[in-house]
Amino acid sequence: MTAPIGEIAAVYGTPVYVYDLGDVRAAHAALTRALPAGSALYYSVKANPHPGVGAVLAGLGCRAEVASTGEIDAALRAGFAPADLLLAGPGKTADTMAYALARGVRRISVDSPEDLSRAGGHGTDVDCLLRINADRPIVGMGLTMTGTASPFGADASWVLSRPEEFRAAGRARVAGLHLYMGTNIADPETLFTQLAASARLAGEVVRALGPSPSEVDLGGGFAMPYARSGPRPSLTGLAARLEPVIAAALPGGTLISFESGRHLVGGCGTLLCRVLEVKPSKGRTFVILDSGVHHLGGMSGLRRLPRVVPEPVPVGEARRPGVLRDCVITGPLCTPLDTWADGVTLPELRAGDLVAVPNTGAYGLTASLIGFLGHPAPAEVLVDGGVVVSASRLELGRVDLGGSSERALHRRAAAAPESSRAGPAARPGGAAVRARA
Ligand SMILES: Cc1ncc(COP(=O)(O)O)c(C=O)c1O
Repeated sequence: MTAPIGEIAAVYGTPVYVYDLGDVRAAHAALTRALPAGSALYYSVKANPHPGVGAVLAGLGCRAEVASTGEIDAALRAGFAPADLLLAGPGKTADTMAYALARGVRRISVDSPEDLSRAGGHGTDVDCLLRINADRPIVGMGLTMTGTASPFGADASWVLSRPEEFRAAGRARVAGLHLYMGTNIADPETLFTQLAASARLAGEVVRALGPSPSEVDLGGGFAMPYARSGPRPSLTGLAARLEPVIAAALPGGTLISFESGRHLVGGCGTLLCRVLEVKPSKGRTFVILDSGVHHLGGMSGLRRLPRVVPEPVPVGEARRPGVLRDCVITGPLCTPLDTWADGVTLPELRAGDLVAVPNTGAYGLTASLIGFLGHPAPAEVLVDGGVVVSASRLELGRVDLGGSSERALHRRAAAAPESSRAGPAARPGGAAVRARA
């Protein structure tokens, strides 16, 4: 990345996320070139909901795939048109759907007949994409999200055997299909195989459901190294292989769409942090940083993410010749889970050194444990052409919902609609995370 990262660390402190918007544009250009001509592309906001990152993709004609009221707000704030949003994900509540519809969203991915009737119960016409869970997994996929028992979508065998349950409910009609077989598929052959399998399966379901769909979302799985250096994988040749498969499987005139989060924005991000201490303990070396799983890699506790090994940033002086062996890289949280890597060899580091974790533009801050222990979130700095164009900090805050007496609580519970009684956090618009500029 071209941003002056040493200066950014000096001005905004560490830890600090730096997002290079030029990289987002480059990733978008490469991905759209690799997809079949005329297809649409959704940006998966979960990868990075920063409005400045989303704004670049909205400006380039991307649509947005969102999964919550907070992501709807983030997408709209970024400048995506409501008509370009797809609300997807398991466990969508009627309130979340109502929130989306009230803001002009008209496309919802549904996972079951019940989900379809929830979408159709708001007095507004809704075009739904029916999410299909394939009956067989694809060999070679890392994180398999389909072809196995899954909360995502409806099993293909269920849809094929009882298509009448999946056509329409209330004001919702199934206007197309949504498939998403898996994420971060680095092997080009596996990537093609799963997209081709999705197209063929979609064709089979379309024939059972009829009539012609207006859109088939074939998912994605476009890979990107996570929190380690490495280039964005090339997708050259994908369109030429996919186009004939799609043409054979689906009716002409069907809009084909794809989704991507990490491939579009993973490469734009760098997390800069500082070494607080290098400390020996019983023969091992602990490198303690001012960042940890509350800022990056919070999902690694669920074994979804590989270890994170930051790279020293030589600022003002050349890299030192020594090495540190058998290191444990930890953060400032008082839990042994706050460990990015264990048993690694590092270049010699000292307290005060600046280190960087590359390729952290996706699944960074908001995929981490930002509330745990109450450390401030890192600043997030947007850079374009080597110039800082925005700097802000996410903040967790408490929203006062009023009334503290027991009687007020009872009154409030009695007045609340059934769907919102799970608690204040479940209410649309109740998201308590806000950015402070
Ligand atoms: C339905 C769906 N779409 C898109 C994505 C984004 O995945 P990625 O960031 O790997 O492109 C995910 C991630 O899990 C997903 O579940």
